[in-house]
Amino acid sequence: MRILVTGACGFVGSTMITHWLTQGSDYQFVGLDNLQRPGSDINREKLQRLGVELYHGDLRHASDLAVLPKVDFVIDAAANPSVLAGLGDRGQSRQLVEHNLIGTLNLLEYCRTHQAGLVLLSTSRVYSIEHLTALPLTVAEHAFTLDTASLDASLSATVSSLGINERFSTQAPISLYGATKLASETMALEYGKTFGLPIWINRCGVMAGAGQFARADQGIFSFWVHRWAENKPLRYIGFGGHGHQVRDCLHPADLCKLVEKQLAESVESDKPRLVNVSGGIASAMSLAQLSQWCADRFTPEQVGKDDADRPFDLPWVVLDHSLATKTWGWQPTISTTQILEQLAAFAMDHPQWLKATGGDR
Ligand SMILES: NC(=O)c1ccc[n+]([C@@H]2O[C@H](COP(=O)([O-])OP(=O)(O)OC[C@H]3O[C@@H](n4cnc5c(N)ncnc54)[C@H](O)[C@@H]3O)[C@@H](O)[C@H]2O)c1
Repeated sequence: MRILVTGACGFVGSTMITHWLTQGSDYQFVGLDNLQRPGSDINREKLQRLGVELYHGDLRHASDLAVLPKVDFVIDAAANPSVLAGLGDRGQSRQLVEHNLIGTLNLLEYCRTHQAGLVLLSTSRVYSIEHLTALPLTVAEHAFTLDTASLDASLSATVSSLGINERFSTQAPISLYGATKLASETMALEYGKTFGLPIWINRCGVMAGAGQFARADQGIFSFWVHRWAENKPLRYIGFGGHGHQVRDCLHPADLCKLVEKQLAESVESDKPRLVNVSGGIASAMSLAQLSQWCADRFTPEQVGKDDADRPFDLPWVVLDHSLATKTWGWQPTISTTQILEQLAAFAMDHPQWLKATGGDR
């Protein structure tokens, strides 16, 4: 099977391709990337050494897709993936929409031309900020935890101690980033239905692993571990400045195992087209707990506090992946501790990683 990976030189795209090629998969890869993300050029060289057919192109330009060879499936891992993206006042919001939504549209036209399937990597950021911030939480072991006893009955079908499921509200506001992803999901489902294309949408929770580019607003596990390893200052922002905010954590190699099943499914499949894909509650961790892990792994350090809340910050985001498990027999297998250890070892081997990949700003 020939597969086009967009954002091939990004963290998720390059990790997935490398995982498959080093596991002896017989997929053939074509990669596309505009190399806009600092650090993506490092992955370009690695992928070239693995023999990946790479194209320097931009999803915003349909003509960059027109020159690509025909493939059977596309995995879309190209985006500006930050929840703070598009907030600048010099046309950045339009740029975000062009990258993340017009890019998807151009890709869907490419899929239509070649009758290719699409795996779209979406995000937990499609879920309603208002509804997420209204969830009842308590604090236990330095982490927010869902107070299920105080949960409104109307929410019990959409969130549980396992996390937020696919029926949770996607009502705006969800951030500009979330909106481009939610709109991309809708367009992809429509193209799939209208033109008979196999479309799979994976709403991914936070992903992490060695080699991830990291900034405070994107790639938080990697950012935290690298900054700790490089002795750079860290701050708990918002929610009283205690670091109680919680995320789950998934390694892209686990995502590969689900995508393999989706690639092998027939176009007539009646399986749900959209699932949450996450490390789930078993992988969830607060920033304060992450700091404790870093203090044990490296040396103890003082974390600063800034209790001013920022727009789009959320206290507790854990995705319930039960539907993916039930539908595909899929489970994440790589624990958060294994992911953190992988990150820490990588950080020790790459002491200038944040500088090289734009994470020191
Ligand atoms: N990393 C996460 O925690 C996470 C969580 C949920 C969803 N996702 C989604 O997974 C996908 C991959 O994320 P990532 O963490 O690898 O991000 P990344 O920034 O590491 O990689 C994205 C890559 O896409 C490229 N790119 C951006 N715009 C492009 C365009 N217009 N044309 C061509 N290439 C372009 C960048 O240069 C970069 O190499 C994104 O769609 C993101 O929304 C990521």
